[in-house]
Amino acid sequence: MGVNGRLSVADERSVEAVAARLTSARRRSLDLLDPVDEPDLLRQHSPLMSPLVWDLAHVGNYEDLWLLRALGAAGVGPQHDDVYDAFRHPRQNRPALPLLGPGPARRYIDEVRDRAIEHLARVGQACLDPDGPEPLLADAFVYGMVVQHEHQHAETMLATLQLRDAVYEPAHQDRPGLLAAVSADAYTGQAEVLVEGGPFVMGTDTESWAYDNERPAHVVDVPAFWIDATPVTNAAYAEFVEAGGYERPDLWTDEGWKWRQSEGLVGPQFWTGDGGRIRFGRREALAPDEPVQHVCWYEADAFARFAGKRLPTEAEWEKAASWDPATGRKRRYPWGDAPPDGERANAGQRRFGPSRVGAHPQGASAVGCLAMAGDVWEWTASSFDPYPGFRSFPYREYSEVFFGADYKVLRGGSWATDPSALRTTFRNWDYPIRRQIFAGFRCARDGA
Ligand code: AVJ
Ligand code: FE
Repeated sequence: MGVNGRLSVADERSVEAVAARLTSARRRSLDLLDPVDEPDLLRQHSPLMSPLVWDLAHVGNYEDLWLLRALGAAGVGPQHDDVYDAFRHPRQNRPALPLLGPGPARRYIDEVRDRAIEHLARVGQACLDPDGPEPLLADAFVYGMVVQHEHQHAETMLATLQLRDAVYEPAHQDRPGLLAAVSADAYTGQAEVLVEGGPFVMGTDTESWAYDNERPAHVVDVPAFWIDATPVTNAAYAEFVEAGGYERPDLWTDEGWKWRQSEGLVGPQFWTGDGGRIRFGRREALAPDEPVQHVCWYEADAFARFAGKRLPTEAEWEKAASWDPATGRKRRYPWGDAPPDGERANAGQRRFGPSRVGAHPQGASAVGCLAMAGDVWEWTASSFDPYPGFRSFPYREYSEVFFGADYKVLRGGSWATDPSALRTTFRNWDYPIRRQIFAGFRCARDGA
């Protein structure tokens, strides 16, 4: 704990550590795009996604805005602000923009980065102060925001690469465990855990790199509930498909059924219908013990009804992931406050896909839920709403403009999510029809 009880980023609050986080985010972005040729960087692989080179220059433009101009430093300049403004141009329109080509985009983001590192050295001391006068700099918040932003776009680029009609071969396969074979050992632990009713603290006031939508911390009284110990597997989901789950309107909400009909949904995206799936352009057998991925909220909701259950609310999910009933305290990660490592969580693209369920017993939450950090994002029953007392910071377009019933909340991060965005309070959101993200789910039901 830091001053004022703040969960500080501790040793990460040094100039060197912040610079290292920026560098590793950048290495990840560049490594990801390294195997992709120029035409494929410029092409739009799906109307749902940007051309990859847009994401690349956009992370640099965001850094120009937040680590240079917002901090009073000379930016590279506003000439790229229009093209890389996500709000002015919806994804489907981005291929028509006068985009920087791959070479100029790399030079642009390099130049921004050089200046940002120079400026960081200048503001260094202010960054170390958790209670400094500039709220953007307190506990290096704005640096954390830019680090998380670049990693979130890396995950978005992975979704684009998964949609691309070509085999994707990662350039660097030297990360421990990357693309390692999945063990076929079945999970034999408990199927569900009971979480006792009672109050817990939802959200955070103390996590220094938390986004505005995770704040403020507030007490929520959650009645007792059961929640699955693991995400729903491919095998379990295949049973739903084989039992005619996609032919039974009684299992779907009205909107979900309409969507299933109009889109002709018959199973998760990328399933081939014969026990196989396409992953990064390669056809392979479905791994029965892996969490199902690439289902939309409507499919998750229908499966839950089929199983006689429902999706957990966001509060239930966060309580099961973070609350330690023995100590009455909230954990930063499901297993405690220690940062994620390869034993506890499959995240940060260590593997290039989810682990079989039960693969990380050391990552269990206090109540015994597994895989609540990494593997797959998990759909919750809840809309993306502000917490009571929410204040937009530092800009309305990160969270506030998305609040409301149009979006559903996802929790927990995926195999592609960087540890900087893996804390138990982190909130992701998307439309209930979306399937290209690395999302699955687990089910819940009311307690006794
Ligand atoms: C939090 C993943 C929904 O990708 O739209 C990236 C993250 N915000 N750039 C998104 C984000 C600005 C955001 N999600
Ligand atoms: Fe962005």
